[in-house]
Amino acid sequence: MSNRLEGKTAIVVGAGTGGEGVGNGKAVAVRFAREGARVLCVDRFETAAKATADTIRSEGGTAEYLAADITRADHCQGAVDACMEHFGRVDVLHNNVGIPSLMEITDMTEEAWDHTFEVNVKGMFMMCRSAIPRMREGGGGTIVNVSTVASIRSFPDAAYTASKGAVNSLTIYLAGRYARYNIRANCLVLGYIDTPLARPAWEDERVRQINLKQVPLRRFASPWEVASVAAFLASDDASYVTGAIIPVDGGLCIM
Ligand SMILES: NC(=O)c1ccc[n+]([C@@H]2O[C@H](COP(=O)([O-])OP(=O)(O)OC[C@H]3O[C@@H](n4cnc5c(N)ncnc54)[C@H](O)[C@@H]3O)[C@@H](O)[C@H]2O)c1
Repeated sequence: MSNRLEGKTAIVVGAGTGGEGVGNGKAVAVRFAREGARVLCVDRFETAAKATADTIRSEGGTAEYLAADITRADHCQGAVDACMEHFGRVDVLHNNVGIPSLMEITDMTEEAWDHTFEVNVKGMFMMCRSAIPRMREGGGGTIVNVSTVASIRSFPDAAYTASKGAVNSLTIYLAGRYARYNIRANCLVLGYIDTPLARPAWEDERVRQINLKQVPLRRFASPWEVASVAAFLASDDASYVTGAIIPVDGGLCIM
């Protein structure tokens, strides 16, 4: 493992795992630490944030944790303040939080629509609003936003699809407007990732086989394969990469 994040600090939002095992956010936080970053693990659930920080510490890495709900502006500001207090700077912001609504548009309530956008888009906006001034003070930074193939294909979930499309657009906005301050912003468009969140759907063998056939590589990804791309984007190896909407999907979105 390289030390390409040595000296950098990272906030991973949604760093816990919903359930047993390793989700995308946890894998990214652990990978960042393995590459030398000091990591603030942020999650709505303190136990989930702490579990990720404990894993990092058990491997000899440096991590702190914080319970914060990114739908609250004061919690977003609190996360950035905590990173400054613990580590003195903010170099990397990894926005992993995202929830589905699981509803077609004709069944969708306004409350469910608003809640999905509040978590998936407004939370990212508020984390960026709080983090960017600190990145500018520090001479630059990098933002990685987590999106989905559902943002660029038709998918049976109206609010998830539309809100993640907004995440892609927010990334392009950020990249264009903040490059002048040496802040890069990129977006991961995830396909089928074998996480505790996604796995229950594949307990139905028929669904599992249908999903596998959609993927040219004929397998689901491990969250560690998401983490390796996130670590590249967060590092100076990606110093000329900004505004990129990068599929991590085994080829799903080209089919
Ligand atoms: N797993 C997949 O197949 C897949 C596919 C496409 C996209 N994604 C995207 O990956 C991301 C997360 O995936 P995961 O599998 O790691 O999920 P996960 O549920 O394991 O992790 C997300 C974490 O975010 C936290 N969270 C939720 N709402 C929050 C809030 N308001 N404030 C703070 N924290 C909050 C949860 O507590 C959880 O620990 C999402 O953006 C999702 O859209 C996943």
